Amino acid sequence: MIYQVLFLNFIVFFTVYKTAYGQGCSITLSKDLPENPPLIYSSANKLLLPKVVNSNRVLSLQSKESIQLTCPGTGNYLTFTKTPTATISCVSGLKFKHLNKEYSFPTLTCLRGIKEDMKEDGKCGNDKMSTMVLIGWNTEGTFKEQIRVCFNKIDSEPLYTSAIINGTGLAAQDAGGSRPSFKEGYHYGYYRDVSMNEAYAQTNQETVFNTTFGSALAQKYLDTSKQLYLARGHLIANSDFVWDPMQDATFYYMNAAPQYQVINNGNWKSIESAVRDLAIKLKTDLQVITGPFDVLSLPGPSGKPKSVYLTRDSNCNQYIPVPKFFWKVIHDPSTKKALAIISINNPFLTTLPNNYILCKDVCSSISWIPKDSLKSLSSSGYIYCCSVDDLRKSIPDIPNIGNVALLT
Ligand SMILES: *[C@@H]1O[C@H](CO)[C@@H](O)[C@H](O)[C@H]1NC(C)=O
Ligand SMILES: *[C@@H]1O[C@H](CO)[C@@H](O)[C@H](O)[C@H]1NC(C)=O
Repeated sequence: MIYQVLFLNFIVFFTVYKTAYGQGCSITLSKDLPENPPLIYSSANKLLLPKVVNSNRVLSLQSKESIQLTCPGTGNYLTFTKTPTATISCVSGLKFKHLNKEYSFPTLTCLRGIKEDMKEDGKCGNDKMSTMVLIGWNTEGTFKEQIRVCFNKIDSEPLYTSAIINGTGLAAQDAGGSRPSFKEGYHYGYYRDVSMNEAYAQTNQETVFNTTFGSALAQKYLDTSKQLYLARGHLIANSDFVWDPMQDATFYYMNAAPQYQVINNGNWKSIESAVRDLAIKLKTDLQVITGPFDVLSLPGPSGKPKSVYLTRDSNCNQYIPVPKFFWKVIHDPSTKKALAIISINNPFLTTLPNNYILCKDVCSSISWIPKDSLKSLSSSGYIYCCSVDDLRKSIPDIPNIGNVALLT
C-alpha cells in the first residue's frame, strides 16, 4: 500500500515536473520567428535546422539546451543585447533565458536581415591555379562556410561549387521568398573586367549570336517563345538550402554559368529535385558538387562549328564561355557512395555525336533518377550518369572524393 502511494506520488510529481521543466522549447516557423531571424547554432557549433513535426515546420530544443544566435553582416546585431552574438538557453515553450533574464523567442530579432560574406581559402583545381572562394556567414571574424566555389580568376570562370545539403532540414525548408538579383562580387574583387548583368542581357545575347552565326541562325538559336536563351544557370541550386537567407546567398555569378533556359527549366530541374528528394528520403547529408565544362559549339552558316561565348573582355578576348556540359556529383559520405550526372547544354541535338560522351553511362542501374529525364534528345536536355572516377578521367578538376561505390 505504502509503496503504491509512493509510486503514485512519484508519477504525479514526474508529470508535473515534466510539464513545468521537461517539455523543452518548440518554435513553429510559420508564427514564432522574429522579424529578422538570426542564424542559430547548437552548443556544438552546428547550424540548427528545422524538422517537419505533425506537418508543421519546427525547431525543437531540450529544456536548458543552450544555443547561439548570430546576426552576420556589417553593423548587424541582436537588438536585445546590442551584440552580434548571444548565447541563450531554453526554458520552455518560447521562453529563453539570457543572463538570468527571460525573453520570448519572437522578440530576439537582428537589427536587419542577415547578410552573407566571402573569403578565400587557398588554391584549387587540378593545376592548383584557381582560388577557393567560400560563401558563408561572418560574425565578428568567425566565418561559417555555406558554399565553396573553385573559381578561376583569370578567366572569371567557376570550375565547380560544393556544398552539403541536409535532407532532414530540406523537408522543412523556407519557401516562397522573393528571388534576389545576381551579384558579381565586385566588392570582393571578382568579375571586375565585365558587367555580367549586361553579358546575360537578352539584347547582348542577340548581338553576340547575330555576330557569330548571322541573323538567320541566330533566330533559330535564340527564341524566347521556346525558352531558347541563356539563363543564369545556378550550379548549387538555391532550393538546396533550408533558410531563406542561405537560398539568397547562392545568387552570385560565380555560382552560375550560361545554361539554355529550356534545359535549366527542363531535365536539369528534374535532376536537382531528384537529388533533394533523395536527401530527404535518406534523411542524410549529401555533398553536392556542380560545375560547367568545356565550351558549347553550334553549327555556323557554313556548317562549321563555332564556339559560343557570352561576351568579350576589355581586350576583345572572348569571355564567359557557354558550357557544353553541366555536371553534378552527388556524394553520400555516410555510406561512401556517389554518382556523377552529366547534362548536355545543347537543346538542338538530333543525334548524339561521340564527343558528347564523356564516360560510360550507368543510368540504367540508378533507381532514384526520374527515367523521363534521361536520354531524350528533346530540347529539355540529354542527361546521362557515370561513376565519379570515370567522369574524373575527362574532367580532372572534379575533386577527389576517394574510393566510393555507385549511389544507386
Ligand atoms: C542535418 O539535420 C539533422 C536533423 O536536424 C541533424 O541531425 C544533422 O546534424 C544536420 N546536418 C548538418 C550538417 O547540419
Ligand atoms: C539581330 O538580327 C535580327 C535580324 O536581322 C534583328 O532583328 C535584331 O534586331 C538583331 N539584334 C541585335 C541586338 O542587333
